[in-house]
Amino acid sequence: MIQVAVFGYGTVGSGVVEVIEKNKDMINKKAGDGLNIKYVLDLRDFPGDPVQEKLVKDVTIILDDPEVDIICETMGGINPAYDFTKRALLKGKSVCTSNKELVASHGPELLRLARENKCNYLFEASVGGGIPIIRPLNYSLTAEKIDGITGILNGTTNYILTKMDREGADFDDVLKEAQEKGYAEKNPEADVEGYDACRKIAILSSLMCLKNVKYEDIYTEGITKITAADFLYAKEMDMTVKLLAMSKNVGNEYFAMVAPFLISKEHPLYSVNDVFNAVFVHGNMLGDSMYYGRGAGKLPTASAVVSDVIDCARHIGKTVMCLWEDEDVKLADIGQVSRRFFVRVDQSKADEEKAKEIFGQAVIVRIDALSGEFGLITEPMTEKAFGEKAEQLGAVIGRIRIED
Ligand code: HSE
Repeated sequence: MIQVAVFGYGTVGSGVVEVIEKNKDMINKKAGDGLNIKYVLDLRDFPGDPVQEKLVKDVTIILDDPEVDIICETMGGINPAYDFTKRALLKGKSVCTSNKELVASHGPELLRLARENKCNYLFEASVGGGIPIIRPLNYSLTAEKIDGITGILNGTTNYILTKMDREGADFDDVLKEAQEKGYAEKNPEADVEGYDACRKIAILSSLMCLKNVKYEDIYTEGITKITAADFLYAKEMDMTVKLLAMSKNVGNEYFAMVAPFLISKEHPLYSVNDVFNAVFVHGNMLGDSMYYGRGAGKLPTASAVVSDVIDCARHIGKTVMCLWEDEDVKLADIGQVSRRFFVRVDQSKADEEKAKEIFGQAVIVRIDALSGEFGLITEPMTEKAFGEKAEQLGAVIGRIRIED
């Protein structure tokens, strides 16, 4: 019997207990041994819940118990999860986590500790919830040189953008509704400002580069400035707006960013709606592959944590290889990246002629319901060139990048 402890009995932690209980026979068969949840660590009490008898409030009891081989860290946040994880790994206990903040901030160090102590630090649930994406990058696509990853990595913002698209509603109204329904946090900043997607693409980028991509270095723009008017234009252009997290390798350079993008109906991520996530990976031999599913939620995320527990159970005393070196990657300036842009222009400040004079070849888009402005789609140009032209025009209401 393999003894497991769960750190944090919140949404994901209670999901882990539920998944292990519900799929017990299948999981034990796949793990090659029986899994038993011996402890649950939480400062709260859960009277009436069977977990109460396994509940401990002092982490040392678990860390000092030589019977415990595997820990599910489902606490979230950096502290005290970082300290608890380090102490567990130093004792040779494997840790399986859904904690993207911790993986993005301290991944290489925790992986090294796992290697040095012949155990594992696995983090399938940290990106894309229940979607397998870490394991495909680590185990399945090992023959590939991955040169591009583009994903919808945040369920909350995808839900909001999908609603704005379908209902023509404004950001603030949809956010409020999403908060009422529990799809968005009371403090939605991490999601709507793109910080959550930034942590997740930092993790995927590191697995792509095999070195450390610091999340702090990734250009990040959220969805708070996207309006109902933007979606009117998007519809007219047969497009929609998605918050994309992307990472690209061109020659010796790596680019990474998170921002809202216009994508056309032909784009593989166009139909990824509501709280669903998808990750589109390009390898130099395979070409494109895509991973799609529930990127958040109790049971999908818990399922990914438990898949890591099974992996640990299959590798007791042995570290599963994960290449993510300490060395930081110097990301290239996104100002060099070339793409098309959609711009909304204030007609009282600049007319079509002036806009075309500055932007060169451009397609004009007009919406009857939006007087006093027009939209235009530029030819491909670098971010830097676009910025200069936009300033020269001096009449830009807003701009959204286009992902072709
Ligand atoms: N807030 C996150 C999301 C939860 O909406 O995707 C999963 O990481």
